[in-house]
Amino acid sequence: MSTAPTETISTNEPTEENVEKIDDEEKHILSSYTKIEELQKFSISGTDIKKLREQGFYTVESVAFAPKKQLMDIKGIGDGKVAKLQEAACKIAGKMQFVKAIDYFERRSDIVKLSTGSSNLNELLGGGVETGSITEIFGEFGTGKTQICHTLCVTCQTPASVGGGEGCALYIDTEGTFRPERIAQICDRFGLDASDTLNNISFARAYNSDHQMKLLSEAAQLMSESRYALVVVDSATALFRSEYIGRGELSVRQQMLGKFMRELLRLCDVFGVAAVITNQVVSTPDALSFKASLKPIGGNIIAHASTTRIFLRKGQKNARVAKIYDSPNLPEIHIDFLHFLLTNLHVKKGLSQYQVQHNFISCSIIKKKRNPKKHYIFEIYKKV
Ligand SMILES: Nc1ncnc2c1ncn2[C@@H]1O[C@H](COP(=O)(O)OP(=O)(O)OP(=O)(O)O)[C@@H](O)[C@H]1O
Ligand SMILES: [Mg+2]
Repeated sequence: MSTAPTETISTNEPTEENVEKIDDEEKHILSSYTKIEELQKFSISGTDIKKLREQGFYTVESVAFAPKKQLMDIKGIGDGKVAKLQEAACKIAGKMQFVKAIDYFERRSDIVKLSTGSSNLNELLGGGVETGSITEIFGEFGTGKTQICHTLCVTCQTPASVGGGEGCALYIDTEGTFRPERIAQICDRFGLDASDTLNNISFARAYNSDHQMKLLSEAAQLMSESRYALVVVDSATALFRSEYIGRGELSVRQQMLGKFMRELLRLCDVFGVAAVITNQVVSTPDALSFKASLKPIGGNIIAHASTTRIFLRKGQKNARVAKIYDSPNLPEIHIDFLHFLLTNLHVKKGLSQYQVQHNFISCSIIKKKRNPKKHYIFEIYKKV
């Protein structure tokens, strides 16, 4: 897989200073994990490293952060070896001791935030989707969850200066709604080459919950080979929900879902990627207000694993409303947003007809330009 096409929209001339700065930034991003082979320097044998790789441990950090019990379950790795392994891994990985909050504050200021493609939504999220943690997007059908995921697959490849993560994207599709054509449309908006961008997205369709789980382990391998900025799971809960039915299976379902979320969180910790999951909602009657309220699926398991939760709903006149549902550092405010960028439209019949057709009559157009392929690009934006 080739590296992200960072140069495509960079406008700065490459001076010596620039190059040094970019090199430093690159080192910073790349230094977030260490390949597992480094353990050999601490007298861990090649055979043991092979065993670890077979069980999905591709980085030193994944060994350092793993519970002892999980390592002891690996055939041929006993009690004594686990202690030696973890001691070596912790030494290499660092990050395992207390640090001053001021140092942690500084470290957090380096956290890359990925642009969602909607300035309103970015503002709501305090800059964008945070790398190194899980962001959950939930809401009814057609609220734009999949559209945001598609947009993030493109923006995560752009330079940090324009809200990107300078890395590849990984997409696990459990509902069969990933559309490369849509990615190509979004590329036009950002002036990126569609083939390069698609080349930097690893896509897999998950057919059952076990397969979904297995794909995460493959994701870890891919991430240890190239730099990734984003992992999308659209949707994280659908397969679990359809396979484990009824109250009798609820506890097993939650257990399996919990395992999946833990593994996903580990990818965030080890590789510093942003994990974005989508989730469906169920309608539950509210005894106090006599109204039904929408709740995300997955209960406490999903609630605890997701650092930031965004609730999307349909507003009046086809607007979309986003609300922060639960975040350690963002207030629960909501905004109206309509993030769809309607690209590559052959405007033969005139704009008004197009607007009527798509119910966007109430929106104002703030950008209209013609791209080299003689297609019009509209950015439709609705003020609160
Ligand atoms: N190219 C496009 N331009 C503008 N709007 C689009 C485009 N493609 C899809 N849409 C709109 O996006 C909406 C669907 O959004 P999306 O598929 O992201 O919903 P979702 O929240 O993922 O729904 P579900 O729960 O069914 O998966 C529809 O209203 C559709 O008309
Ligand atoms: Mg969807």
